[in-house]
Amino acid sequence: MPPDPGSPTALGSPAPRREGREKVTGTARYAAEHTPPGCAYAWPVPATAARGRVTSLDTAAATALPGVIGVLTPYDAPRLGTWDDPTLHLLQDLRVPHRGWYVALAVAHTPEDARAAAAAVRVAYDTGPHDVTLRADHPHAYTPQDANGGHPAHREHGDPDTALTTAPVQVDCTYTVAPLHNHPMEPHAATADWDEEHHHLTVHDSSQGAHPVRAALAALLKLTEDDITVVSEHVGGGFGSKGTPRPHVVLAAMAALHYRRPVKLALPRAHLPATVGHRAPTLHRVRLGARADGTLTALTHEVTTHTSRIREFVEQAAVPARVMYAVPDVRTTHRVVALDVPTPSWMRAPGEAPGMYALESAMDELADALGIDPVELRVRNEPPTEPDSGRPFSSRHLVDCLRDGARRFGWTGRPRPTREGPFLIGTGVAAATYPVLVSPSTARAHARPDGHYLVEVDATDIGTGARTVLAQIAADALHTPLDTVTVALGHTGLPDAPLAGGSSGTASWGWAVHDACTALTARLRHHHGPLPAEGLSASADTTPSAPQTSPYARHAFGAHFAEVRVDTVTGEVRVRRMLGVFAAGRILNPRTARSQFKGAMVMGLGMALTEHSTMDAAFGDFTESDLAAYHVPAHADVPAIEAHWIDEHDTHLNPMGSKGIGEIGIVGAAAAIGNAVSHATGHRLRELPLTPDRVL
Ligand code: MOS
Repeated sequence: MPPDPGSPTALGSPAPRREGREKVTGTARYAAEHTPPGCAYAWPVPATAARGRVTSLDTAAATALPGVIGVLTPYDAPRLGTWDDPTLHLLQDLRVPHRGWYVALAVAHTPEDARAAAAAVRVAYDTGPHDVTLRADHPHAYTPQDANGGHPAHREHGDPDTALTTAPVQVDCTYTVAPLHNHPMEPHAATADWDEEHHHLTVHDSSQGAHPVRAALAALLKLTEDDITVVSEHVGGGFGSKGTPRPHVVLAAMAALHYRRPVKLALPRAHLPATVGHRAPTLHRVRLGARADGTLTALTHEVTTHTSRIREFVEQAAVPARVMYAVPDVRTTHRVVALDVPTPSWMRAPGEAPGMYALESAMDELADALGIDPVELRVRNEPPTEPDSGRPFSSRHLVDCLRDGARRFGWTGRPRPTREGPFLIGTGVAAATYPVLVSPSTARAHARPDGHYLVEVDATDIGTGARTVLAQIAADALHTPLDTVTVALGHTGLPDAPLAGGSSGTASWGWAVHDACTALTARLRHHHGPLPAEGLSASADTTPSAPQTSPYARHAFGAHFAEVRVDTVTGEVRVRRMLGVFAAGRILNPRTARSQFKGAMVMGLGMALTEHSTMDAAFGDFTESDLAAYHVPAHADVPAIEAHWIDEHDTHLNPMGSKGIGEIGIVGAAAAIGNAVSHATGHRLRELPLTPDRVL
């Protein structure tokens, strides 16, 4: 429903996605769909050794092929400047840290010629024995200082070991989450155009943040940031894999500068598993101790994970256990081992997604051991303050989510599992949590004499509806109808803004947009007579006002319910229905929010049942390299999914009162499904995904 002119009703309305028509009619242009005149095409050459050094690189046959412009190798590629991400130091030395690491780049007049040239490059390696196998007792596993997100790797309160041995009821379980890949619909791509005359590089990149890409390119290519424009206008998903600059954009820009012509590099999907990060596999040991009434007395969550040889990334899977339940004696800790594997990175709810699978499965096992309803068990262990820090919660409505979800789902005490012919039917529940993150941002708002407004911020819309929600925030602060507001984003020429990550985009950009529009409203109020021809503007910078830390513990919470049908003949698990209830502050747009929640729940369904990247121990690569082998849910796999939320008023967040919603929907979803499978079958499976071979 359109808001009344002049009244601040845009926020909270189910405004449709602004770029929807462009996307479905194919007029929205993605990074690989910009083709400057004279554009060349690049195709990288991945290493075929898992560990070693390049000893020779013969490009003679490749450069002799028709249409080939050249082949860049570590011997002759331009020297890059320094940047703190070693995965971007491409073609700078001969070391091969993992299979799939790029050792050369072919550039040609057509994509086909570039691909043929890449295939004709002859590379010899001096290889050593490689190790790509994660084990909990790996001799080189160590406890890092910090895990992803800057969380301390190790936290301990009281004496959990003693508390565990003296607890009347105990569970001690290990869980395994496979490596997973983000696999956005749009593979990573960049088009780089070097303008020699104006000494300016323009890059269209599929990225979650244009400003961070520009900063990396400036440092690596030894240019100033003013020499570079990065555009990320439309992005076909990222899920974290486009949250940091990736090799394709560095290679495209390097080649454009070197060959003095536009260069396009669109990664084939088969390159993604080794090139743009993955969710590292996690091995979990969770021990819980409780009294007979269900009160937790002890908890340990110990996570072992892998990283690469070149960069330490530690999936912070034990961190959510610091937030969830009141437990006096507790240890949460991570160990990591550097293997000859591609560098892991962010994938939707890094840490929380695998961590809450383990913790919420263990809670279900404890509920079974105690004979207590699993909803009730969680309710009984609600903490008065954040368990690890002792800080008060800014708001915490987990119990409301559990109760409301139970009512909507028809969970009246856990129903008995049932049998329908060859099918076993079971139900499961799990909780969800995701932190409230925010970063400083800038924005500008401009009032035109014709009554229209332009809001500028280098936000990125990765398919979430960011454009739409930012327009709503602006319209609300400007007291103007939504259709009078245009939002410009996805361009480094716009005011500096943080990346779309950590479910922090709307809070971060929206805060600056709100402030700029509020300032503009004040200016307009004091302006008398018609606006000058150039209009009126106001800017905002939330660096002083957007606190990244708070005296309050700020998290979103949720509850998932699932009903599954397990085929006793084939071992196939079908999810019949899923229902999630979330407490995530004020919901700014119910249409795009529901889409975020449901999309993440579907991703959790994939994590539970089908998604899995297999590390081949002999070759050292992930064997699933396309969507035919890496099974994301298809429509037939996705049942009736409902996402609901409770009205949450939290004054400790931002001017909009919102928490992030992009990631919490995946957190706990796989546990709810796993718990339902265990309920149906009476057997507990502790390794994802729950494929038929494991279920039978
Ligand atoms: Mo998300 S994994 O923070 O891009």
